Amino acid sequence: MDVIIMPTADKAAKLAAKIIADAVKAKPAYNLGLATGRTMERLYAYLADWHKNEGLDFSLCKSFNLDEYVGFDGSNKDSYRYYMNFHLFDKINIDKRNTYVPNGVADDLEAAAAEYEATMESCGGVDMQLLGIGRTGHIGFNEPLSSFSSRTRAVTLTKTTYEQNSPLFDKPEDMPMRAVTMGVGTILDAKKLLLVATGAEKASIVAKTVEGPVTSMISATALQMHEDAVVILDEEAAAKLEGIEEYKWSFKQDPRWAAYQDI
Ligand code: F6R
Repeated sequence: MDVIIMPTADKAAKLAAKIIADAVKAKPAYNLGLATGRTMERLYAYLADWHKNEGLDFSLCKSFNLDEYVGFDGSNKDSYRYYMNFHLFDKINIDKRNTYVPNGVADDLEAAAAEYEATMESCGGVDMQLLGIGRTGHIGFNEPLSSFSSRTRAVTLTKTTYEQNSPLFDKPEDMPMRAVTMGVGTILDAKKLLLVATGAEKASIVAKTVEGPVTSMISATALQMHEDAVVILDEEAAAKLEGIEEYKWSFKQDPRWAAYQDI
């Protein structure tokens, strides 16, 4: 695992966006795994800006989102499809027919989830999966005790996640208690994982994720089992890491990160 600590949340987002942009330039038919949430908004703003002003080309990309609320489709402004259109897809040149978000309104959610997995597989899998992290340590909506082998499925959200996300709704009581999410196993199948966490409220869960024991009580610890996982933090989210100075040192020395020093 690589842990990269940037001075501010904005620079953390910019670094993650640059890693994505460089990957898309190197392989234009890139399969992006995408996330929603507050952390991703400025990252997507960078990608949209680079598309508009520098011609960053997404025309051959496909995208697969982590999750969607049960009962919501794209017409609902609190849906993750709406979020993706608003923050990214409407601002870049990706073909919307190649943007996939789990189906939260299917009559048979399990069949739709299986179809989502099949679509991902038939497209060649996810090249890089972008991740945020919830206060419970969820990635996607894989709450504590999600199996590390879990696949895309309908899940029930925890009280902590309700408290984290319901303030984003006009009426907090409108937040669904269920979602469809890629599983931890689905996420681990991506060729590369890129987790971004910022802000002091993430510091404890980040320390457990990076330095704690691997446990299904904290889904994000599964990143420790992936051969190419990168964790990008701001100083606040990194504050409780024991190895903070070592990680900063390694980032500066590592030739793989030479092009990313002056973000
Ligand atoms: C979103 C998702 C979640 C969020 C996490 C952090 O698609 O899957 O895991 O990434 O809840 O959310 P923010 O960035 O709002 O703190």
